[in-house]
Amino acid sequence: MRRERRSVVAVERVGPYALLRVTRGSLDRGGPGQFFMLEAPGRVLPRPMSLCFAPRGELAFLIDPIGPGTRALAELEAGDELAVLGPLGRGFRLDVRKPLFVGGGIGIAPLPYLSEALDRPPAVLGFRSMHHAEAAALVPHAEVVIDPMLVTDVMPTDRDVLACGPEPMLEAVRALVPDAQLAWEAPMACGYGACYGCVVEIDGELKRLCVEGPVLCSS
Ligand SMILES: Cc1cc2nc3c(=O)[nH]c(=O)nc-3n(C[C@H](O)[C@H](O)[C@H](O)COP(=O)(O)OP(=O)(O)OC[C@H]3O[C@@H](n4cnc5c(N)ncnc54)[C@H](O)[C@@H]3O)c2cc1C
Ligand code: FES
Repeated sequence: MRRERRSVVAVERVGPYALLRVTRGSLDRGGPGQFFMLEAPGRVLPRPMSLCFAPRGELAFLIDPIGPGTRALAELEAGDELAVLGPLGRGFRLDVRKPLFVGGGIGIAPLPYLSEALDRPPAVLGFRSMHHAEAAALVPHAEVVIDPMLVTDVMPTDRDVLACGPEPMLEAVRALVPDAQLAWEAPMACGYGACYGCVVEIDGELKRLCVEGPVLCSS
């Protein structure tokens, strides 16, 4: 894990999302499902972002501009600089035989990098609109459903599921596939175990999601 000031290469629009590409410098790419803390211009605390792609010499993050920090990140321009800390947390286990990705909304962010690592397995992705679903183009072999249809309406249950998305989606996925690998979210201040701001209770146990997660196996 390192902290470096990096330059923005480009910010590309993908539906309502922004794909922020920064130079990698000597930062390690880390594994799929790991995340980085990105300095958000004008905000005191950095924001956690999953690694979406790691093209040569770059790190790329898919950002949903839902609040002040994510909007500031989405508005960065080529040549701007920001502090980047990572890679952090525990990502997805890659020792799976029949992988299936399940993603919801901005939860698809770690799946392009994961897809490369697992030889482009099938994916079921859910979005709230066709505009949001433009991001499905980043994930190979994706079947897309749009609200009110749910990913759990169409996903097969006989595969090794790796899922990332909103909490209700993760709960529904684990009800169908109890041993699924699930990437959870919690607000994070430090990202490396120091502040205890990201503690969540899962199955009666308290976990610092930035250290023990964000990917947890549900059984
Ligand atoms: C490990 C991890 C990886 C993430 N990866 C991505 C990613 O790849 N792309 C992306 O767009 N977002 C990702 N997020 C979520 C992102 O970090 C938050 O949306 C962001 O910090 C919100 O900051 P803000 O200033 O824009 O909005 P804020 O004003 O801070 O928050 C807006 C609203 O979202 C809630 N909120 C903020 N952070 C979280 C959170 N982490 N979980 C649940 N609710 C939250 C707040 O309570 C508030 O209601 C990730 C979060 C984690 C923990
Ligand atoms: S974010 Fe500080 S302990 Fe997890």
